[in-house]
Amino acid sequence: MKRETGHVQSYTIAVLPGDGIGPEVIGEAVRVLAAVGERFGARFAVPQYPVGAAAVHATGTPLPPETRDAAGRADAVLLGAVGDPALDREPRERRPETGLLALRALLGVYANLRPVALHPVLAHASPLKPDRLAGIDLLIVRELTGGLYYGEPRGRQDGTAVNTLRYTVREVERVALTAFRAARSRRRRVLSVDKANVLETSQLWRETVTGVAQQFPDVSLEHGYVDTTAMRLVSEPAAIDVLVTENMFGDILSDEAAVLAGSLGMLPSASLGDGPGLFEPVHGSAPDIAGRDVANPIGAIATVALLLRHGLGLAEPAAAVEQAIATALEQGARTRDIARPSDRMMGTREMGEQIARLVRQPERSRRRRDRRRATPGVGDGRL
Ligand code: IPM
Ligand code: MN
Repeated sequence: MKRETGHVQSYTIAVLPGDGIGPEVIGEAVRVLAAVGERFGARFAVPQYPVGAAAVHATGTPLPPETRDAAGRADAVLLGAVGDPALDREPRERRPETGLLALRALLGVYANLRPVALHPVLAHASPLKPDRLAGIDLLIVRELTGGLYYGEPRGRQDGTAVNTLRYTVREVERVALTAFRAARSRRRRVLSVDKANVLETSQLWRETVTGVAQQFPDVSLEHGYVDTTAMRLVSEPAAIDVLVTENMFGDILSDEAAVLAGSLGMLPSASLGDGPGLFEPVHGSAPDIAGRDVANPIGAIATVALLLRHGLGLAEPAAAVEQAIATALEQGARTRDIARPSDRMMGTREMGEQIARLVRQPERSRRRRDRRRATPGVGDGRL
């Protein structure tokens, strides 16, 4: 719980490292959180709990009661990643992903915010041609607790399998509100994505979003089909500001959008509802590179920024973390996924340490950077 102890604010963050690279990147995220505490005089308690395959191995279930209780009581929840190929053939209740979906439902985090921006110095890592990259800065708002992921009936019987796509007006309204509110602090444009030419749920989605738009005369609303939008994301990504869509479409489009930023390893997410928020990097558990100190911790560290801003209402510390990430990149810090062959590569830990240092001592780092900027041609604006 949040408490005032003298002048120092205290927060409890339930930390769920999870599987694969989760523990490594979360280790660096927690390091940066500690640096934020030092610089801004806040106290963060960071008790850890098992989730996903780690929890299945330890307790037989992917979201043990101890983890549920702690998540529900915390000021915010920070999660690494879940997933383990060794459990792919297990029944649904023993699969790591089931733990994550249960956690999202438990916390009621219906709005998943996935911001995608390309840092100028990483333009080389994006698969798009430079002329398409200018101005990429979009926010995906994915509905997270409804749709096909949760719809009943579901299951398999004999040669048939069923999943149910169901949405209520209320479910669409609340996530649309999140999208329109977010648009107000951005370029004031919402693109609502559906498949209204085929699906009844999408027709309800479109009508409901159009209704919510009436409350936001200062925000423009456009509707797009999901197939066309998949194409626009690579042909004219800079034209998109806030993209709001249902759970499954959002899952797919957010991975597509993520590569625009150069690497899936860079991207953070915030899942918000009426209680504690759930904060996790967009990347998965990446078992192939786990435990080797090569994973990019920036997605997890940028997730700390979202946790501070949206979970705890701490705007200035959030901006400080984002600034530290930008500075580290400008100073040439590169993990393997964002390095060019000629770059010196650093490991997960070294990247985390450099960003934590920059959070603690921004002044000294800025002076060092300014000296380097004596070189002409090194801009600091966004592409
Ligand atoms: C994501 C992931 C999850 C999802 C999986 C791990 C259940 O892909 O957060 O995008 O599909 O929501
Ligand atoms: Mn996904």
